[in-house]
Amino acid sequence: MTGYLLKGSFPLIFERGAPGRRGWRLPALDVPEAPLDDLIPAVQLREDDPALPEVSEPEVVRHYVGLSRRNYGVDVGFYPLGSCTMKYNPKVNEWAAALPGFARLHPYQPEETVQGALELMYRLERYLCEIAGLHRATLQPAAGAHGELTGLMVMRAYHEKNGEGHKRTEVIVPDSAHGTNPASAAMCGFRVVEVKSNARGSVDVDALRAVVSERTAGLMLTNPNTLGLFEEDIVELARIVHEAGGLLYYDGANANAILGICRPGDMGFDIVHFNLHKTFSTPHGGGGPGAGPIAVREDLARFLPVPTVEWDGERYYLDYDRPDAIGRVKGFYGNFGVLVRAYTYIRMHGSEGLRRVSEQAVINANYLMRRLAPLFDLPYDRHCKHEFVLSGRRYKRQGVRTLDIAKRLLDYGLHAPTIYFPLIVEEAIMIEPTETETKETLDEFVRVVEAIVEEIEKDPELVRTAPHETPVRRMDEARAARQPNLCWCAPVPADAHGGE
Ligand SMILES: Cc1ncc(COP(=O)(O)O)c(C=O)c1O
Repeated sequence: MTGYLLKGSFPLIFERGAPGRRGWRLPALDVPEAPLDDLIPAVQLREDDPALPEVSEPEVVRHYVGLSRRNYGVDVGFYPLGSCTMKYNPKVNEWAAALPGFARLHPYQPEETVQGALELMYRLERYLCEIAGLHRATLQPAAGAHGELTGLMVMRAYHEKNGEGHKRTEVIVPDSAHGTNPASAAMCGFRVVEVKSNARGSVDVDALRAVVSERTAGLMLTNPNTLGLFEEDIVELARIVHEAGGLLYYDGANANAILGICRPGDMGFDIVHFNLHKTFSTPHGGGGPGAGPIAVREDLARFLPVPTVEWDGERYYLDYDRPDAIGRVKGFYGNFGVLVRAYTYIRMHGSEGLRRVSEQAVINANYLMRRLAPLFDLPYDRHCKHEFVLSGRRYKRQGVRTLDIAKRLLDYGLHAPTIYFPLIVEEAIMIEPTETETKETLDEFVRVVEAIVEEIEKDPELVRTAPHETPVRRMDEARAARQPNLCWCAPVPADAHGGE
């Protein structure tokens, strides 16, 4: 029997069903059948039927419901994946995004018929500028990394306009940076220059002074940084970069810690991206699409991609007539459904509510950090913001690595935290509880981690060989990445080989 249990192997839909089985059948035609090649040119008609699964309706439903029960998401349980802000996504966001007036729009509709959508984008831009402390924004980038690339293109356009494009060839990135920062800078044609962190986990001011020069196009920074620590010297860092003629780029992936408390523009940043799918709550992480709008200071607005959304006093319209724009970075309006969710989230919370989001996120992170600190090494013993980084190096004695602890958490039905990032912490475990978790959930997580630590002492092999309870056990991840086998091949019937 092909089971629908949570454990064990799970057949593909192609391996279910039987020849001729159907979900439903159309009644016999009571009109003459139109020859297909009257409708579709013969050359485009396929000769054989496609090899589709032949399954009944219940088989299809059980198959996909079964798969969904093996999936893990924020609607299932705690998801402490540091740097990813896996917060609960309120269902009202989904309701708004599914309103037919939004969901059924066609991107080629004339502007007069999409005034509501344009108004939403216009207002969302204003809100994001207010939150960033900057002047204008584009909603088009489809992810954080895409926002980074767009922001760096704006940076390049600014230096080119000033006649310095040829010499401002370097982008400075801290050694704790998220991997997308150097990748985006390199993709935009810049040379990446690393700046070291100090013993407190912040960018070292003297190290920055040493790498800044007339070649500096800008500095990319996230604040709080990827260790979850606030860059206390940010004003000085901004002064150093600006005095050298560079710009400051803010990676807003960590903005969940600062909403309504401080603004990147006030810290000295010139270009900011937000991850709407994190901070402003849209399902993400192998799930839906994202959005990485960027906001910029006033004199950089002319470089923003086309089109921008404008209001002429009577109607909203898309402005393509922008001679200094870097061009287009995304089709149509960007990922519009994500914009609707973010707009709804911001309106539902209001400014006070957004501030409470960040306060609660920071309190939750500090509570969990202090509860877990006795079990691990705490490389930077400071108050954290929305996330924190521990080190599991002490368990190397028992032959247990951070990876093993993360895998063992899966056996307890929990999602693992981010591990081995940031790179500057040995055996790093990066935890971001988010504001949407209760104290009971955080306490339960601590109990599970305590149980795993006890297992490490008593039976390290159990942890080293985890997970034991998941449908798929430990994989050779390097092999899976290098030699992916993603195609299903129908089994060859025995008589196809002449009865061999
Ligand atoms: C600090 C930081 N910057 C940038 C990104 C990139 O965002 P995205 O995954 O939306 O491209 C992430 C994503 O995890 C991040 O944590």
